[in-house]
Amino acid sequence: MKNITKICCIGAGYVGGPTMAVIAKQCPHITVTVVDLNEARIAAWNDENTENIPVYEPGLSEVVAEARGRNLFFSTEVDKAIDEADMIFISVNTPTKTYGAGKGMGADLKYIELCARQIAKVAKDDKIIVEKSTLPVRTAETLRDILHNTGNGVKFQILSNPEFLAEGTAIEDLLMPDRVLIGGDTNEEGQEAIEALVSIYANWIPRERILTTNVWSSELSKLVANAMLAQRISSMNSISELCEKTEANVNEVARAIGSDSRIGPKFLKASVGFGGSCFQKDILNLVYISRSFGLQEVADYWEQVIIMNDHQKRRFAENIVKKLYNTVAGKKIAFLGWAFKKDTNDTRESAAIYVADLLLNEQADIKVFDPKVEEKQVHADLDYLATRPVEENHNAVHVFADPYEACKDTHAIAVLTEWDEFKDYDWQRIYDNMLKPAKIFDGRNLLDVKKLREIGFSVQAIGS
Ligand code: NAD
Ligand code: UGA
Repeated sequence: MKNITKICCIGAGYVGGPTMAVIAKQCPHITVTVVDLNEARIAAWNDENTENIPVYEPGLSEVVAEARGRNLFFSTEVDKAIDEADMIFISVNTPTKTYGAGKGMGADLKYIELCARQIAKVAKDDKIIVEKSTLPVRTAETLRDILHNTGNGVKFQILSNPEFLAEGTAIEDLLMPDRVLIGGDTNEEGQEAIEALVSIYANWIPRERILTTNVWSSELSKLVANAMLAQRISSMNSISELCEKTEANVNEVARAIGSDSRIGPKFLKASVGFGGSCFQKDILNLVYISRSFGLQEVADYWEQVIIMNDHQKRRFAENIVKKLYNTVAGKKIAFLGWAFKKDTNDTRESAAIYVADLLLNEQADIKVFDPKVEEKQVHADLDYLATRPVEENHNAVHVFADPYEACKDTHAIAVLTEWDEFKDYDWQRIYDNMLKPAKIFDGRNLLDVKKLREIGFSVQAIGS
């Protein structure tokens, strides 16, 4: 078995950065170099003050502080890192295609292909290539084709090792994963490559938690895991609407059904809709793959998870308009939270963006506070949708560094992210500074409804 002493990871994003930082922390005998084309991102990973690294994740800056400069390096010298490594992780972005065939559905694999061509060009000795990005099933076939047809005659083994970390809990998830999944070829060389990667994770993860499969099962399992998780949320969000009509309470329903050990309590929280860079993208990809095999019913089944999620976001915004007497034109609405979930600065596909966009169509003024999201990101997210001219977005959306300022003089507050600190605000002070009747739309079932009603708020929570 090949003894791995040098790892390279292409892509220093939300997965590449934390994943490699933890490998470096747990394996001081392995040199880990994370490379990226984005110079600003690499400079931020190398910032002297580890609080300024580009990904906010509880516990991450401490891990980076421990390993960086010892056996963890961030660099833009992609070729050099590829050349020196025994094992190369590909952790680049695989967004939904925005053009051509499969537009809006299939995964855009252009970054993956570029990596493969670059590795093939540079590699002068045998290497193990690890798919860390989430990829359509059978991508390893494409990689193999490119590597073996454009390379210098060296041998490549391709493994699939999808990442299951969730943002906000990445370090915990990486240090104590439910499982690690490694797929590879079933022949002897494939099994040797699998063992080389198993032995890296085995430095801190019990072997019985390291699952090995063939490469296609591993690629597909990642898409299925995300689809199943998102499906649970859409299921509960569909029930939340029924609860609102029947006086049932979605939290009580979640507790009642989640106590059945066959169902389990996790991922049953109704919300304003799931966000994040992966659930929607990966389900769309699953739908696209199924359709491309002519499996119409399979595709329709999974597509419904996305349809339900879009409905939930729209329904939340429409309810705000309805409860504000069918007009929000010129009214000020505070958004508490912009990130797609708590404990992250990531806003990709956040429900807040779509709720804001719908309210802006109704000419509302929006005042945003999020503990970790910067003003330029909020504007960039709305501008990206290109629903209206950039100046209109900037005139109607203002970002505040102080939650009390954001809520001052507003007609309503919408809770879009479940940041813990929102629970502990001085809600009496917020109420006193709002226009009356003061309304709260809790898209996360986060706040103490009874207490808020005693203060005088009119509160509408999801699913009750
Ligand atoms: P990201 O956009 O944060 O990071 C990707 C990085 O790759 C970017 O910094 C980009 O500049 C870089 N890159 C792209 N092409 C490159 C090239 N040719 N050479 C060098 N660098 C290049 O993306 P992410 O959130 O880290 O996701 C990466 C992959 O991991 C995706 O496939 C995603 O589906 C998957 N994933 C993400 C998460 C998550 O929580 N974000 C969890 C599990 C899996
Ligand atoms: C998700 C998966 O949980 C990870 O296992 C996976 O690796 C990752 O996608 C990925 O492939 O990118 P992530 O998107 O970071 O992780 O965060 P989640 O905790 O899954 O939350 C996703 C969205 O669902 C958030 O908007 C969250 O608020 C929402 N959610 C989550 C609910 O609305 N209800 C719930 O019960 C749980």
